[in-house]
This record gives sequence, C-alpha cells and structure tokens, in this order.
Amino acid sequence: MVPESVRREVHRLREVIAEHDHRYYVLDDPVISDGEYDRLFRRLLELEERYPDLVTPDSPTQRVGGRPLERFGEVRHPLPMLSLENVFSAEELRSFSDKIRRYLEQDGEITWVAEPKMDGLAVELIYEQGRLVTGSTRGDGVVGEEITAQLRTIRDIPLVLRSAHHRQGSPLVVRGEVFLERQGFARLNRERAEAGEPLFANPRNAAAGSLRQLDPAVTARRPLRFFAYALAEPAAVPCSRQSELLTWLQEAGFPINPHVRLCSSLAEVEDRYRELAELRSELPYEIDGMVVKVDDLALQRRLGNTARAPRWAVAWKFPATQATSRIVGVDFQVGRTGVVTPVARLEPVRVDGVLVQRATLHNQDEIVRKDLRIGDRVLIQRAGDVIPEVIKPLTGERNGTDQVITFPEQCPVCCHRLERGAGEAAIRCPNSHCPAQRLQNLVHFAGKAGLDIEGLGEKNMEQLMREGLVHDLPDLFSLDPDQVSRLEGWGEKSARNLADSLARARRVDLARFLAALGIFHVGEVTADLLARHFGSLENIMAAGKEELMDVEGIGAQVADSIVEYFSDPSTRSMLDRLRELGLEILPPAQEKRPLAGRVFLFTGTLAAMGRNEAKQRVRDLGGQVVSGLSGRVTDLVAGAKAGAKREKARERGVRILDEDEFLQLIAGEET
Ligand code: IVH
Repeated sequence: MVPESVRREVHRLREVIAEHDHRYYVLDDPVISDGEYDRLFRRLLELEERYPDLVTPDSPTQRVGGRPLERFGEVRHPLPMLSLENVFSAEELRSFSDKIRRYLEQDGEITWVAEPKMDGLAVELIYEQGRLVTGSTRGDGVVGEEITAQLRTIRDIPLVLRSAHHRQGSPLVVRGEVFLERQGFARLNRERAEAGEPLFANPRNAAAGSLRQLDPAVTARRPLRFFAYALAEPAAVPCSRQSELLTWLQEAGFPINPHVRLCSSLAEVEDRYRELAELRSELPYEIDGMVVKVDDLALQRRLGNTARAPRWAVAWKFPATQATSRIVGVDFQVGRTGVVTPVARLEPVRVDGVLVQRATLHNQDEIVRKDLRIGDRVLIQRAGDVIPEVIKPLTGERNGTDQVITFPEQCPVCCHRLERGAGEAAIRCPNSHCPAQRLQNLVHFAGKAGLDIEGLGEKNMEQLMREGLVHDLPDLFSLDPDQVSRLEGWGEKSARNLADSLARARRVDLARFLAALGIFHVGEVTADLLARHFGSLENIMAAGKEELMDVEGIGAQVADSIVEYFSDPSTRSMLDRLRELGLEILPPAQEKRPLAGRVFLFTGTLAAMGRNEAKQRVRDLGGQVVSGLSGRVTDLVAGAKAGAKREKARERGVRILDEDEFLQLIAGEET
C-alpha cells in the first residue's frame, strides 16, 4: 500500500519539476538554482524507487529513456504530414501570393506569418487527456515510425500539458521540429571523434540519428531540442489565426521559435526574409529558409491542400551553398527509365559539412550550354538534400589541358544504341531489358519511395542479380533465406531480417505499390491520385487514355505512359506472378466522396467564392469538373450573368443549380 501522503507528495513534486523544466527549457528563465532542482528531482526518484507502483510514463524521471526496442513500430498519422512547396526568389513568392489572391478573389493585403524554417526533423506528438501518448517521425507523410520513448527524453517536450483547460476533449495532435543546436552538434562529434566513432555530417543528420535510436537511453544523452509550429487539426482549439495558435501552443507548454513574425503585407515578408538571412549565422541552430503562412485559419481552410503540400504556405529557401572543385572525369549512369545522366567525378570538397565527390551535369544540352570540360575548375552547389550540381566552369583558370566531354553513342551497360526523342533533352537506352535499368527498377521497387524493404539497397540488389537469385520483381518474394544467408556478406540474421521485411511488404497500399512499379511519369503524387480515383489496380489497368485524363492532375503524356505500361503482356504476367506469391494490394481508405459520379460545369460568376475555389470544393467531394458542355455533364452551376450555356444545358436536360443551391449542396455534403 502506498500512503496517501506519499502519493500526494509525488504528484506535487512532478508538477513542481515540470514547472521548473518549463521555465528552464522553454522560457529560458529559471527561478531556482540547479542545486535546488536536483534536490527535488532526487526526492522524486527516491520515492519512486521505494514505491515503484507510482512510476508513470509522464514522470520527469522517465526522461532518461526506457527499455531498448526490438524495432520501430508504425504510426498512421491522423492527417497526412504534408511537405511544402519551395520558392527561391521574391518574384516566385509574389506569384505564389497572386495565385492565392486570385483563388480567394481577394484584392486587399493578406496577413502572413513568417517563421524560420528549421533544418531538423518533423515529428508529431499526440496528447490524450493532456498526456503525451504517441510520438512519431514524418515517415512517408502517411505512416511514420513510432518514437514515443525517444521523444519523451527531450526536455522541451511537455509530457503533460500545462493547464487543465488543455486536458479535455479529443486528442491534440501537435507538430514541430526536433533539432540539434550547433554547439550540441559540435560536442557530440567531439565525443565521437574521441571514441573513434564515425562523425555526423551535419546537425540535421545527427538529430535524425539520435532520434532513430532503438535504445532511448542513447537519445536521452543527445542534446535534442524542439519547437512546435502546427496542429494537425487547428479547428480543435479556440484560435482563428496561426499567430494565435502559436501563442496557444506556448501556453500549453511548448517552446515556440522566438523569431516568428507577423507581416501585414508581402513587402514586410520580403523585408523579414532579408533580416532572417542576416540573422542566420548568429542563430544557435541551422535554418534553411523561411516558411511563409497565411495567418487567417479560415482562409487556410478555404485554400486547402494539394496531394503534396498546403496551398496556404510556402518555404522560401535560402540560396544554396556553393564551392569550387575540379572535374576529373565523367561517368554516364543509366537510370531506371533508361535515361543516361552524365555525372562529374570531382576532387573531393566539403560543402555544408558534407563531402562532395560527384555532381550531376544533368544532360548533354547542359554540358554544351555551360561549356563544361574535363579538367575544368568548376563552381558547384548543394541545396538541401538534393544531389549537388555543377553550375559553371571557371574558364579563366583553363590552361589548355581541358578535354571536351563526349557523350557515348552506345549504352555503357548493354551497348544498345542510345536514342534521343524529338524535342527531348534526355538521351535514353531504349532496351527495357538493359541490366542497368532492371537493377535500378528493382532498387526503386524495394526503396524508400517503394515497398521500403530493409537490406535491399543498390549494392545488395546488384549482388542478388549477379548471383542469379533475382531477375525481376516477383523473384524478390520467392527468395530463399537459406540461400541468401550463404552469400558473401550475409548471415543468418540479416537473411532472416530480409525475409521478415519482405513478408511485411506483402501487404501494400495501392498508391505505394503503383509508385513502386516505377511507371514512367508516375511518381508518388500521381500514384496517389490514381489510387484515390480508381480504388483498385484492376480499374486502373482497365482505364483508357480518356478515363485516365479525367483525373485532375493527369495529362495526355502521363495517361499514354500508363496505358503503354499496362498493355505490355510482360507487365501483366509479372503482376499475376506477384499475386500468386501472396502480394496483397490494399485499396485506399474510404474517403467521403458524395459527389462521385457527378460532372460539373460552371458558367457565370459566383458571389461567394471564385471559380477556382468552387471547382476545388467539388473535386474535394469526389465530383469532376469539366470546361465544356458534353454528354457527360450532370450539373450546371449557373452564377450571375450566365450565358448561352445555361439554355443549351436546359435543352439537354442537365440539372441546373443557381448559386444558392450550389452553396447548399456543398455545405450539406461537407458536414
Ligand atoms: S509547417 C503542412 N513550419 O519543413 C506544412 N514546417 O517541407 C507543415 N519545417 O517537414 C509544415 N520549419 O519539418 C512548418 N516553421 C515551420 C517549419 C517547417 C521547418 C519543415 C518541416 C517539414 C518541412 C516541409
């Protein structure tokens, strides 16, 4: 039995410690000495040791990290964690803002929030009844890795929300960035150097490596920090602006970046960008740009999201870091779709802490346009995670020993004659059986954007192909772990891990599977559109070009590519074999699509919203929008000054909605 007085004391100690943590870590304004704090903490530890029943996961003593995990679990985000579109100049920012104002049909200024773009890792924290219950990484935006125990060790992150008011109602889903300060990063690398361990390239990688530790006690020793910047569902709190939301988050106990600014015009946003660029090097952590968000949450809601990113925010990136090096040679790489990419081999050079030895030259035309030659000193640039590129030669430093770069006429791997399509910059190997293409296809299929199978990177995949164990995608699912374990570099454990990972990958979402196939022009976004529109692989395979083009966001070129892919008999037999081997393709989660099957045409002007917004609302509810009257149109929305279309539609017996009726329809279906 735990005496009631002890229970009460433990409870109080936790509250007091949480309060001091908040003052120390979040407000940077401690009111007691370290010694006094330690006394409180030791007293709590002592009581918890004596009465282990009193230990709860949200006790501050639990920040030291719990038991190591076997592997990371998965968390499906309540709402997708989107990414952000990028802009690189004031002009691009202006056109982003113009697009928004046209969409909203707003003439006046928009109020913006400008936030530093933290160069760390996005995480999601779920609080139930005010207590942290789940924490996860972004993952692919839909499903992330569960890292609750790791996130609990970060002292910036409240384990319990601060006021009782925040502790009621539905779960609160908070999003923000975990990062390492430069100092913490330097210290960590110093320790690693002393211990003879490999160094982290930059604070971002170090933060990622620290969070993805199966043993949370390791995470606990890394000086990770956190800033909150969003809620998955802002409507859950009584705020009408992003700026208010940040204050609300702060009151709930989260640290907020102190350099956030409210800007009442685009000109102010531009000024702030310049200020922040100046401030950048003085900040204790790394930022790679500024995030510009519409302040008004109601406007954010009206603008909504594309499949990839919100329409109400954009990342205005800082210019990439540049450096100089020398081109010592050029390799020609054959990609998944047969495109041959020239890649420069460089004298190694450090850019942003990363050792760069290769940089893309893009294609033949770019080599000619920039007049790049082997032996040239060149300016290179690295932006974020993308592959470094060669910007231009420093021609003043040429001494006559430079050599012109000649593009091969034959595929460097299969020797097939290379082709260049009319009007295309890319030079391709047209042989779809080219081993390089097959390898890259397999690597893509098993990779992060595909089925995400552990242990099947390029090197291992190449080995499996060389050993004759894998020729095509289905072969992956009939791999024999015993056979794999006998290959060089493999053992029983790694072979079993591979088999486990393959077993998990047998159940796969339709969208992910489509993206994994590596159909020309079908990336993650298009795959998602297809999956949501058609609902099953069979429907997609049966769709003709016209039906494919009915999907918003799919044009003629993409539709052609999809039809061509699925009409190939070898594709069909490969899919059959995958099914026989137990692959299960899961349909997308049922969305509310009450207008599915209806085709809308707009005419005249609407008073309540612009044409684009009206169209988007229809699409969000599963309806289609077309621009001309045809037999497929089911509904004509006739605003003020509707013209001849209205009469023609009436003759054809199309349902005609005036503005009020249309607004009622979407309001009724949206609730
Ligand atoms: S808001 C729906 N605010 O940028 C938009 N993101 O490309 C949600 N990031 O992975 C993001 N600082 O990790 C937002 N102040 C900030 C941010 C920020 C950094 C990162 C975030 C996300 C990426 C989006």
